[in-house]
Amino acid sequence: MNFHILTLFPEMVENGLNTSIIGRAVNAGLLSIDAVNIRDYAFNKHQSVDDYPYGGGAGMLMQAEPVYLACEAVMQKIGGKRPRVVYLSPQGNVFDQKMAQEMALEEDLVLLCGHYEGIDERVLEEIVTDYVSIGDYVLTGGELPAMVMVDAISRLVPGVLHNDVSAEFESFQDNLLEYPQYSRPEEWHGKKVPPVLLSGHHANIEKWRREQSIIRTYERRPDLLEKSSLTDKEKKWFRQWLKENED
Ligand code: ADE
Repeated sequence: MNFHILTLFPEMVENGLNTSIIGRAVNAGLLSIDAVNIRDYAFNKHQSVDDYPYGGGAGMLMQAEPVYLACEAVMQKIGGKRPRVVYLSPQGNVFDQKMAQEMALEEDLVLLCGHYEGIDERVLEEIVTDYVSIGDYVLTGGELPAMVMVDAISRLVPGVLHNDVSAEFESFQDNLLEYPQYSRPEEWHGKKVPPVLLSGHHANIEKWRREQSIIRTYERRPDLLEKSSLTDKEKKWFRQWLKENED
């Protein structure tokens, strides 16, 4: 999968994504992350890419033309294809695991990072296919949100995590949070690893983990539990658990 990140701060994106799992996946050729400097497409001799907003108001606005040319350059580079162009903005749809899964199926994805007070509306109208926010708070630019998206999407690309099972059984799968995990030693600060995990009985372990996921989601993200699809047997078990743990 190929990410094309249009930004005024390419080194920020490159430095943030060249380590650990994502860096390794890039080196292995599973992903490419191309940070395109919008300033390279400035059309005046001062290489400026921003200007005052018409009508007044605080701050500067990124101008339409350099953003447009940078995006066109990406399309040309990928043989004239028209990929999805995501503009990172607090006004967008809120990014979640489902959106990450859907975007992981794309071959190319363009991520457009705004800075200053935003980007001239006219170029957004022409090139943007998706408006995406990473949460209800305002950041100074779209670079961190773009990096969040690249990370979350990349780990769903086959081969990136090595063991595909770990992307399968994790938080948000079926709207349930992940069960608690334990490693050595068997006892730490007086706390013991739940005995079922030492039993070697795989069916019991699976059952325990599923139940823990349900309990954890109920306690931490009850909004998600409503969207999960429990079997009738699990619903019955959970009603019983609630009864026993009511106080
Ligand atoms: N740019 C500034 N804040 C943002 C946010 N919360 N999500 C996406 N892009 C942004």
